[in-house]
Amino acid sequence: MFLRNCWYVAAWDHEVADRLMPTRILGEDIVLFRRTDGVVAALEDACPHRKLPLSMGRIKGDTVECGYHGLTFDSTGTCTRVPGAEKIPHVACVRSYPIAERYGLLWIWMGEAAKADPDLIFAVDHWGDPAWGVNRGESMALDCNYLYMTDNLLDPSHVSWVHQSSFGGVQAMEDAPLETTVGVDGVTVWRWVVDAAPAPFYAPSSNSPAIATASSTTRCVTRPTRSSRRSSCRHAPAAKASRCTRTCSSWTVTIS
Ligand code: FES
Ligand SMILES: [Fe+2]
Repeated sequence: MFLRNCWYVAAWDHEVADRLMPTRILGEDIVLFRRTDGVVAALEDACPHRKLPLSMGRIKGDTVECGYHGLTFDSTGTCTRVPGAEKIPHVACVRSYPIAERYGLLWIWMGEAAKADPDLIFAVDHWGDPAWGVNRGESMALDCNYLYMTDNLLDPSHVSWVHQSSFGGVQAMEDAPLETTVGVDGVTVWRWVVDAAPAPFYAPSSNSPAIATASSTTRCVTRPTRSSRRSSCRHAPAAKASRCTRTCSSWTVTIS
């Protein structure tokens, strides 16, 4: 059983540029594509005619043309063309899914469309704040039960040994006490590492001078959920990013 009325990450934004991108989420085949106005659409990846995946077809303007017999669908899943037929059968349609683009990610809502509120996507502290820098990595496919990953992410005590070249590698981190915050929709494990050089992952970069004094928060989420927006670090609400001189690392696993 899947939680359907929540947002799931479907792809990086740059993965859906000018091609049909097939993916599989909650056991369903989905095709993503970007319209000419830049908006990303998600459709069921199966033509209602003979079930060829639409991802094997082609983008035609703001529509997707099936690669088998040419049925064409717009971003809402409505069939706009049936070659050789004057009337379009009402059953000639595919399901469409709400998409939200946020934090460089494409989020998909697989449940009731009327409840797809982008504000339910959790807030990333300081996102878009020029005083803060952003590190973007790649995604990792893990061939295991998701609960193992949840266990790992709530266990930052391994960071000093496993992640020495990234966000570990700071002696002071070994001794910094861990704190756990339990909220209505999740659990956050966090700690402050005070008066220590930042770990390599948080080190200053040449194009983001402010990051020399403030690091970003590492947040891992296995379930999308509601979260209030914050304008300052959640662990030191009074400390604005520009004045923060601490390294804050936290791992959040939300539950719903
Ligand atoms: S299978 Fe798509 S048009 Fe026939
Ligand atoms: Fe790890």
